[in-house]
Amino acid sequence: MAGILCLIAACLAAVTTTTAQAATALPCDIYGSAGTPCVAAHSTTRALYSGYNGPLYQVKRADGGLADIGLLTTGGVANAAAQDSFCANTTCIINVIYDQSPRHNDLTIEGEGGAGRADVGAPANALPVSVGGHTAYGVEISSGMGYRDNSTSGVAVNGQPEGMYMVASSTHVNGGCCFDYGNAETNNQDTGNGHMDAVYLGLRCEFGGCNGPGPWVAADLENGLYQSNTGTSAGDPGPGILPYVTAMLSNNGQNHFALKRANAQTGGLTTTYSGSEPTVKSGYSPLHQEGAIVLGTGGDNSNADVGSFFEGVMTTGVPSDAADSAVQANIVSAGYGGSNGVPGGSLTPGSSISLRATTACCTTRYLRHANGDAVTSVISSDLDKADATWIVRRGLANQSCLSFESKNYPGDYLRHSNYQLHRQPFDGSGLMAQDATFCATAGNSGAYTSFQSDNYPGYDIRHYNSNVYIAHNGGANPWDTTTLWAQDTTWEVTAPWA
Ligand code: AHR
Repeated sequence: MAGILCLIAACLAAVTTTTAQAATALPCDIYGSAGTPCVAAHSTTRALYSGYNGPLYQVKRADGGLADIGLLTTGGVANAAAQDSFCANTTCIINVIYDQSPRHNDLTIEGEGGAGRADVGAPANALPVSVGGHTAYGVEISSGMGYRDNSTSGVAVNGQPEGMYMVASSTHVNGGCCFDYGNAETNNQDTGNGHMDAVYLGLRCEFGGCNGPGPWVAADLENGLYQSNTGTSAGDPGPGILPYVTAMLSNNGQNHFALKRANAQTGGLTTTYSGSEPTVKSGYSPLHQEGAIVLGTGGDNSNADVGSFFEGVMTTGVPSDAADSAVQANIVSAGYGGSNGVPGGSLTPGSSISLRATTACCTTRYLRHANGDAVTSVISSDLDKADATWIVRRGLANQSCLSFESKNYPGDYLRHSNYQLHRQPFDGSGLMAQDATFCATAGNSGAYTSFQSDNYPGYDIRHYNSNVYIAHNGGANPWDTTTLWAQDTTWEVTAPWA
């Protein structure tokens, strides 16, 4: 009888603990309480321990100045305003991503490897997002960018069990190798099968037979991105195109690994594979992890990939399903979002808008992207709506002006190049920052709004034959024609389609 009471008491205690934890515990609190503590916790957006109040990352200014960016509150969201003020009117890169765990496994810009030249740092302001209504910056990885720590503490080696997750985006992916976060070689070389154990998100389908167009979550176990023991999708079509995705990998290091994925904005985890280590090639059972940590490249610094990273942790030991689920619930409750909670339809930074053409021919057409180009079109499908929605950002090159970030491609901006407008990922260059900055003026036709190029004064955003340009009234290009110039360069800022 006493035993039964004891069991009930323990059960009640467990329920109470779980309930209390769900309200306050952050990912590394959850994993710690579950007996699988974090040995790495990286994020540029938020704390991953409720008691953390140290720096999240370090930015490096074009003049070489360095600043650590911390939190608004203990256990809270990044202090993006500190970055904005330090980097005002110049460019900054992310120089260090600090490890919030007591292990101090900080990530710095990755050096040369067997398959890639030394990386460069990600532009610090390329990926503004909203977390719980506060602005924060993610890490926007373009090809040639990556971070690493080859001298870590506590990270699994030689067949030890571990888990990891990252919050990334399936809107910013490619088929280049390899947008990874996790365990890799300590010498930046491919040292053989099983020498890695990192979670991957992207379009790379190394074994054929992948389900649907991707992207997919996979385990990079070296010389293979495995969605299952045979490499191919185990019937899973992947997360679809979502701005925020949770990608999880656990591996007991001996004979079993599991992959899970989720929408990081809502809902729970889906286990896409749980079974034996790869069987199509040898060397993975047991693993031979070396314990370095990589972000944004393959183990040998293969760096042809792109990706967006917001947060990630690694644990010692394989986390329980319950802990993983609690972590996913916490990620959802963090409130990742594309704009900053500003009501839509205005030119206030953080607001989502659409831009309607005002020329008589074309008043049902909106400025949207299609295949990477800016065009105007009538809007009907959900895809049209998403493509025609822009998040207003403070100008990348001029804080008095504006930039327009794609709603469904976070980190991609409207920019001109050879006078034509395109949607492109911000590459951190001063040129792109300028090309993507426009200053709002009173509408040239006497109503609404026009947008003048920051680096080509006198050139305004104009639609012409359904394409979109910067155009100078009476200039040399066909789209500079004075006929309808005032109307074509005048836009109505509307509530967002998406
Ligand atoms: O396993 C895929 C990639 O192959 C690894 O990340 C890299 O080290 C190797 O080129």
